[in-house]
Amino acid sequence: MSLNQFKRQFSVSNQGLIHLNNAGLSLTSKSAADQVRYWVERFQQEGMHCNDDYMEAAEVARKHLAKLAGADSKEVAFFQSTAGAISQVAFGLEFKASDEILVWDQEYASNLYPWKAACDRSGAKLIRATSASDGSTPLEKLISCVTDKTKLIAVSWVQFQTGAMTDIAALAEFAKSRGIWTVVDVIQGLGLLPFDFHSVGVDAVCGGSHKWLVSPVGVGFLILKKERLADLKPLSVGAMTYGSCDDPSDLSCLPKFDATRFEAGAKQVLEITALGASCKLIQACGVELLQVEAYRLAHILREGLRSQGYVIYQPLNFQQAFVNFALPPSTASDFGREQIAHALAQNKISYALRGPGLRLSPHAFNSEQDIEFALRVLKRS
Ligand SMILES: Cc1ncc(COP(=O)(O)O)c(C=O)c1O
Repeated sequence: MSLNQFKRQFSVSNQGLIHLNNAGLSLTSKSAADQVRYWVERFQQEGMHCNDDYMEAAEVARKHLAKLAGADSKEVAFFQSTAGAISQVAFGLEFKASDEILVWDQEYASNLYPWKAACDRSGAKLIRATSASDGSTPLEKLISCVTDKTKLIAVSWVQFQTGAMTDIAALAEFAKSRGIWTVVDVIQGLGLLPFDFHSVGVDAVCGGSHKWLVSPVGVGFLILKKERLADLKPLSVGAMTYGSCDDPSDLSCLPKFDATRFEAGAKQVLEITALGASCKLIQACGVELLQVEAYRLAHILREGLRSQGYVIYQPLNFQQAFVNFALPPSTASDFGREQIAHALAQNKISYALRGPGLRLSPHAFNSEQDIEFALRVLKRS
């Protein structure tokens, strides 16, 4: 599939909306939307007569997500949110009061509170590594906080405010030799950056459907190394924990031997099949192509803003689909964060107030015209 064909998946009715907060909530692809329509129609018409088909369709979706992430589908469990998937790991493991859990000081709350709560419950200590002064997240700084007590390191691959990245393959290599768990939130990267779960080597990744995976809100997922499956106690337990064991008088059932043991019951079929369709679409186009295009658009935006006098809260030559910017503090009084936000909102451009400035995050489906329009709106006469 060509890049233009990919872009056409997102050319919906022209309401004059410009979508530049894809790190928040991206547009849903046509392929994903078609799945939702298809399944709701079948549920409406067929009810139980489509029971086997919908279950099979959810498994096909699991395979598409697994393939995109370089994992085995038996390693994939669906949840309702990223926080749900992270919570499964945080509360499914047993920590001792002498343990330490290490995170960055700039993690999104869904990748912070589960670890904090796991520490509160067990008495373990939460250590928050200090990011570099420019907001970057170099591995050395994280590793300098590791002690003999470190039991688990939980970081985002790509940070939500500025797109700062942690070298998770090197992290996994470091942690593995010390028996430390590595759990990575990949929601801000998967779908846009090439990723291969097995070669990266972390123990678990968690993510969600509605950002770079161009799918509706409502699916979180956990991908867990096969050899770690048995270490994690299922948090939610129900009929589906035990596969085909439907007989409530038989209490001898064992949980399933793959990651679906973490899915206690019926699933959100519409959202899961939509996610599967988008994962398939992304692979048909090629993640690399999408990455190049999103980076190109972000680069035009970043350089345009720089030339208009904005400060970019990212190093020179930074490559990411995230652009975090504001006016220099000395001039910000006449056109501060709030005024910039107002100008964007007035012109129907989605954005986020994040970290030191405002965050814009083009996806590969955006056009150069979107970027030029945003730059015109942000021009101060
Ligand atoms: C790093 C990161 N993790 C997770 C999420 C979403 O979490 P949840 O699916 O729990 O709402 C976001 C969304 O902004 C995020 O940026």
